Amino acid sequence: MKRLGVNIDHVATLRNARGEFHPDPIYAAKYVNKIGADSVTIHLREDRRHIKDLDAKKICSIKNLLVNLEISTNEKIVKKALEIKPDFICIVPENRKEITTEGGLNLKKNRTNIKKIISKFKKKKIRTSLFINPSLSDIKICKKLDVDCIEIHTGKLANLVKSKKKHSNEFRRILNCSKLANQLGIEVHAGHGLDYKTTKLLGKIKEIKEFNIGHYLIGESIFYGLPKVIKNFKKIIKNSI
Ligand code: PXP
Repeated sequence: MKRLGVNIDHVATLRNARGEFHPDPIYAAKYVNKIGADSVTIHLREDRRHIKDLDAKKICSIKNLLVNLEISTNEKIVKKALEIKPDFICIVPENRKEITTEGGLNLKKNRTNIKKIISKFKKKKIRTSLFINPSLSDIKICKKLDVDCIEIHTGKLANLVKSKKKHSNEFRRILNCSKLANQLGIEVHAGHGLDYKTTKLLGKIKEIKEFNIGHYLIGESIFYGLPKVIKNFKKIIKNSI
């Protein structure tokens, strides 16, 4: 069964815009879980622009909720994540000036450090994932790094589909990477820029086991409500291969 992870960072973005308490990301985490999300994703960014330390701590202590915490390789953030102890960790690249995560990790440059970080989380029995571009050589490095999962950055595919440009090559890249990772025993996830159309398209790849979706899902919920939008995404995921 494929799973839906709901990224609730933008609930915190909206709360922070007022500097007050509403809408509350802790309530959002409980609520999306209740209405069908398989897990909740939060990104504790170095600049804390949305999720704050206390949010992450409280969300990770909610019973019967699987939390996927996205973090960079920054030493202080890694330390914080080890204290918070989420169910899952996804290591992502982070650049202060970016609006959102712009691409996958540079594994060739950072593999030694990333390997050390993975082993710290594995020791605590936390499922660990690496956010990577759809590159076969990166998948081979992931195998050497002994990571549990990869999350393939789908932003390029999403942009091509949205701008009605040819996307077959990028789709094939994601397909081939998913197949190779699966053969190597690495669980495959996908995320970034996904909407109904791109989720349906990627649903054809049977090796993708989890979709992590944020911005579009939260944005669409302004018009149609979280229950309806989550139900729609679940239906797309369930009806895919
Ligand atoms: N997966 C990862 C690793 C991400 O960094 C993000 C963005 O924070 C997402 C998924 C969700 O992307 P979007 O908000 O575009 O759906």
